[in-house]
Amino acid sequence: MLESRPPTSIAVLVSGRGSNLRALLAAIDSGRCHARVIAVISDRPAAAALELARERGIPSHVVSPKQHADRPSWDAALAVQVAAVEPELVVMAGFMRLIGTPLLERFGGKIINVHPSLLPAFPGIDAPEQAIAARVRISGCTVHLVDSGVDTGTVLAQAAVPVQQDDDAAALHLRIQAAEHALLPAVVHAIATGAIELGERPRYRGPARDDAALISPPLL
Ligand code: GRF
Repeated sequence: MLESRPPTSIAVLVSGRGSNLRALLAAIDSGRCHARVIAVISDRPAAAALELARERGIPSHVVSPKQHADRPSWDAALAVQVAAVEPELVVMAGFMRLIGTPLLERFGGKIINVHPSLLPAFPGIDAPEQAIAARVRISGCTVHLVDSGVDTGTVLAQAAVPVQQDDDAAALHLRIQAAEHALLPAVVHAIATGAIELGERPRYRGPARDDAALISPPLL
């Protein structure tokens, strides 16, 4: 609807493989996501996602806890680094650390995360393992706002994924990730075009869409 706006600038926080970053970039390239990635920031120098950023000519930065004496000083450094690139939105795509107060104070309500379960079920690490152990038949992924808790922020959108009889955690995680790769760019696009309005109480303001089922009822 509001695609006459400039693309929303995003900083992507990563720790690992970067398949969600790759999906985001593919969606941007094909015009399905009205955003541009202005920086990729990692807590791990060895994160494969950094290599992808370099290949794509996207500025990348490492803020490693190993470079800092304690957690508060790392929290502060991360906030300084993110603020330095001045993103409109911060996307956590496989960033495996909790966000501290300095970044939340600066970007609160503008940080989203993708998580491999249907929150509030199975927060924290090993969500696919938790789903297998609980013997659920349906799991999925969630894009949510980030607050100071562990995967407790407002749910923005979800996609359901079946759990197969013979799934182990790795097989389930792979299937969930395929859903993440569609959901995350769709949510970023909805935010970029104003269909999802962030803030203290996010609202869905967009037109009816084929994928409206992905938008959680509280936002409709
Ligand atoms: C994803 O499954 C995401 O839900 C979780 O970490 C994983 C990151 O994968 N938070 P990738 O690095 O994007 O491939």
